[in-house]
Amino acid sequence: MRNRFLLPAALVAFVVALGLLSFAGHQTPARAQATTSVPTPSVPTPSVPTPSVPTPSVPTPPVPAALSSVGRPLFVNNCSSCHGLNAQGTDRGPNLVGLGAATVDFWVSTGRMPLAYPGAQAVRKPVLFSRTQQLSIVSYVTSLGAGGPGIPALNQQAADQSNGNDMFGLNCAGCHVITGTGDALANSAFAPSLYQASPTQIAEAIRTGPGNMPRFGPGTLTDKDVNDIVRYVTYLQHPANPGGAGLGHVGPVTEGFLAIVVGLGVLILAAYWIGIRAGATT
Ligand code: HEC
Ligand code: HEC
Repeated sequence: MRNRFLLPAALVAFVVALGLLSFAGHQTPARAQATTSVPTPSVPTPSVPTPSVPTPSVPTPPVPAALSSVGRPLFVNNCSSCHGLNAQGTDRGPNLVGLGAATVDFWVSTGRMPLAYPGAQAVRKPVLFSRTQQLSIVSYVTSLGAGGPGIPALNQQAADQSNGNDMFGLNCAGCHVITGTGDALANSAFAPSLYQASPTQIAEAIRTGPGNMPRFGPGTLTDKDVNDIVRYVTYLQHPANPGGAGLGHVGPVTEGFLAIVVGLGVLILAAYWIGIRAGATT
């Protein structure tokens, strides 16, 4: 008689405990997690000072000049109608001469250019060109005149995410929000979400200030700061899993709700069953 009780009771207790655990694990929403700078446990601080980690100086990888001849016909066919044959600008698009590789690369690699709807704020679109074609266009435009920042090189292994968090909070969160989701600005402009930008594009945006975004030069943010901010934004794009049962990551509220419903349901069933048993034995 006793043994028939034991197994189901243990099962019920187990399920309820699981439900409670998964609920407790989801009390901290992912958003709040992103704002608190939890030190990443996976990077242990070595007790011996590491001499080999250099300050990430951000050199500029040169865009191959030889690609310029490949880029010219691409530019003529896709860009010159607005920017002019020699990128000098027309009444449909601004001058591009002397803007630098980072600016051209940012606008082309994010699909903002060629522009589909002149007038509105340019948005990220599917990219028309292969990476080599993009660099060819960059090479052609920069061959027309020197100046402007080059495409930043990054060293994410040496990046300090905590400093990136601080720098992002100070310089970027005002427009893009501390979680990087983006926000509306004045005059129907908006700061886009940062979840789609590649590390290079993030650094390019910082150094060149596309559209309504301010440009952050080396006097405001050092190359190390840029490298650290990129690390922080990449972390926002792939936040650490807060744990608990998977449930397809439908969200903390839904998962907690499910835990309560299932847990309560099981408890009620158990109480009901115990009641029946009690009735049967007396
Ligand atoms: C339909 C017209 C049009 C076409 C085609 C076009 N652009 Fe543009 N481009 C614009 C306009 C307008 C702007 C200004 C947009 C803004 O500031 O939001 C712009 C801005 C840019 C900028 C940023 C300039 C700056 O001052 O920051 C770059 C770089 C650029 N275009 C490159 C290109 C390249 C490369 C192509 C071809 C692949 C191209 N564009 C095709 C109209 C065009
Ligand atoms: C004054 C508001 C403002 C601030 C401050 C600002 N941004 Fe922006 N950001 C913008 C706007 C507006 C755009 C869109 C530009 C466009 O396409 O015309 C943008 C675009 C971007 C993009 C391109 C996103 C994409 O997917 O194409 C990145 C990346 C970015 N910002 C990163 C940053 C970082 C990092 C900082 C801090 C160092 C920062 N921004 C600070 C307003 C801002």
